[in-house]
Amino acid sequence: MYKRFEKKVVLITGAGSGLGRATAIHLASEGAMLSLVDKNIEALEETRSLITEKTQQSPVLLLTADVSDEELVKKYVDHTIRRFERIDGFFNNAGIVDTSAPFEEYDSDLFSKLIDINLSGVFYGLKHVLAVMKKQKEGFVVNTASVAGLRGLYHKPGYVASKHGVVGLTKAAAIEYAEFGISVNGIAPGPIATNMLINNFKNINPENWEVAAAQHADGIPAKRLGRPKEVALLVAFLLSGEAEFINGVTIPIDGGQGASQYSRKN
Ligand SMILES: NC(=O)c1ccc[n+]([C@@H]2O[C@H](COP(=O)([O-])OP(=O)(O)OC[C@H]3O[C@@H](n4cnc5c(N)ncnc54)[C@H](O)[C@@H]3O)[C@@H](O)[C@H]2O)c1
Repeated sequence: MYKRFEKKVVLITGAGSGLGRATAIHLASEGAMLSLVDKNIEALEETRSLITEKTQQSPVLLLTADVSDEELVKKYVDHTIRRFERIDGFFNNAGIVDTSAPFEEYDSDLFSKLIDINLSGVFYGLKHVLAVMKKQKEGFVVNTASVAGLRGLYHKPGYVASKHGVVGLTKAAAIEYAEFGISVNGIAPGPIATNMLINNFKNINPENWEVAAAQHADGIPAKRLGRPKEVALLVAFLLSGEAEFINGVTIPIDGGQGASQYSRKN
């Protein structure tokens, strides 16, 4: 098997579920040493068991932190350095989605929460990890945005604003740190079958979320939801040395959803 991450240290936030978990499992299979962050310790422990089930044991450090608290972000970075002495790759991924409401009914505290976790959390991660990578004179970062960072979505102003912010932070960090041998890119997933998306379908149709999922999939040219492993493979490419000259971009992974924005079949 292709092992691009042997002797590499990768830090992943939101590693207790979905995209973070799938990426952790994949990178472990490519030999990475992992520092995994989540607010939920049981979920992190489950990720670690899945890694040990599927791959040869590689070192895995588990750290609980709420990414919207800068002190805790500083601590997860410090702990990673204490354990592994460096950070080669950073998947700055933890995030939440909001419940839907039109602007005039949208809860302002919910808006602040979305900004705190999805945008400030990504900023704090960049701030503290880029300082480490600058000293190393190398490093690869992937921030998780969303298709909601590239266009508007109805009734999700907090999510859309936070994810547009992530696209902006990605560009700003890329130009500032490129001269230190660091690449900062983003990913913009469309609907990927994780707990986050399934819970969203459960809110839309509590009796039968599979119907909501099927309706959603029907609007995607690929006629299906994405798989977490597909995102993990993109992240692995961007965190590997193979992607060194790709910098400051946010790459959609959406089954053609973005390309079909204004088209109708008939
Ligand atoms: N699944 C999708 O369709 C989709 C699409 C576009 C973007 N995204 C983005 O992908 C990222 C991962 O989402 P997912 O689908 O894997 O969701 P998920 O809910 O399956 O996993 C998110 C993980 O982040 C953790 N987390 C949440 N808030 C946190 C906080 N404040 N501090 C630390 N950890 C926290 C959760 O405990 C959970 O383990 C998010 O940023 C999300 O916005 C997801």
